[in-house]
Amino acid sequence: MEPLTDPFGRIHDYLRISVTDRCNLRCIYCMPAEGMQFQPQDEIMSYEEIAAVVEALAPLGLRKVRLTGGEPLVRKDLEKLVSMIAVIPGIDDISLTTNGLMLPAKAAILKQAGLSRVNISLDSLRPDRFSMITRGGDVAKVLKGIEAAEAAGLSPIKLNVVLMKGINDDEIKDFIALTLNSPLNVRFIEYMPIGSASDAWRQTYLPLETVVAACKETGWTTEEADMPSGNGPSQNRRVTGAKGTFGLIHPVSEHFCDNCNRLRLTADGNIKACLYWQDEYNVRPLISSPAAVQALFREALGNKPHNHEMALALEHKAQSHTPTARRMSQIGG
Ligand code: GTP
Ligand code: 5AD
Ligand code: SF4
Repeated sequence: MEPLTDPFGRIHDYLRISVTDRCNLRCIYCMPAEGMQFQPQDEIMSYEEIAAVVEALAPLGLRKVRLTGGEPLVRKDLEKLVSMIAVIPGIDDISLTTNGLMLPAKAAILKQAGLSRVNISLDSLRPDRFSMITRGGDVAKVLKGIEAAEAAGLSPIKLNVVLMKGINDDEIKDFIALTLNSPLNVRFIEYMPIGSASDAWRQTYLPLETVVAACKETGWTTEEADMPSGNGPSQNRRVTGAKGTFGLIHPVSEHFCDNCNRLRLTADGNIKACLYWQDEYNVRPLISSPAAVQALFREALGNKPHNHEMALALEHKAQSHTPTARRMSQIGG
């Protein structure tokens, strides 16, 4: 069967599935202080429905599935979904993006169910600062989550650090230092304007050149590094001689849309062909027909933009720029 190709010839083999918009944290860049109105339970896809979508897409070349949220582990028995996806022929990588809090309880069960690996969000190593960024989170619990993932063999483990000016940019060296003696992959991510290019975003955004400069200043020499497992946009480097690597994800200063291989499915069953595109296509009514599911994904891909318009937002032309009505926690990154 014809692979999932868009009008620009990009082949899509990676589906990011948000399983819930709920979260046990409220990071400052992701959710408003007052919290969110969560999607009603009956609008959320069941595990059977999600697995049916993956099953319909596998014959079209889908290989990689990432489960995201909100926080995916707040959804009950997520391991059941993992095991349902793991038996679908063709799917060879099932990964999870999580804040790590529930990994001590879940890592081993998830591994047993067929999860390959985890990406863990961690924006500060300092307890007070981590608590401020997450509005109450305990960094010690995330560190325990990382240990649990290591012990369970969920590797490689990647840490996601959203770089924020005046908030955590003095910790770049501390994060890279984590990679010197441990096989972690620390990825620095440019803060993206989601929902709107607000003043808060403009004040906090930092391009990743800062990371390169911090390395130079420390006297570390770095080299390009391969990543054994990865489907996303990260460019990876290693401090010479280090066990681990660090990655740069720069959607704002230099977009990576030319190589985009990703489709998204929201918890309420909407296909998004681009993180930054408002068009959505609800797949739920079609679940019983694999052919109809395939056709809807092809339709969504047919309207996929070549790239997003974040550069516009950076140039302060944001007033007319309406990237997406959804918050990051409702898309899953
Ligand atoms: P692997 O490389 O397979 O480990 O995963 P990943 O980097 O795709 O997944 P993860 O959920 O850890 O995402 C890391 C960061 O990259 C998040 O901030 C995502 O929002 C961002 N990201 C991933 N895909 C895209 C994309 O297509 N466009 C943009 N703008 N950002 C993306
Ligand atoms: N910009 C960049 N990354 C973000 N994430 C959430 N919101 C943003 C944003 N506005 C990250 C989270 C998580 C990943 C899925 O996306 O930290 O690691
Ligand atoms: Fe929760 Fe992740 Fe959003 Fe933080 S970034 S509030 S951990 S969904």
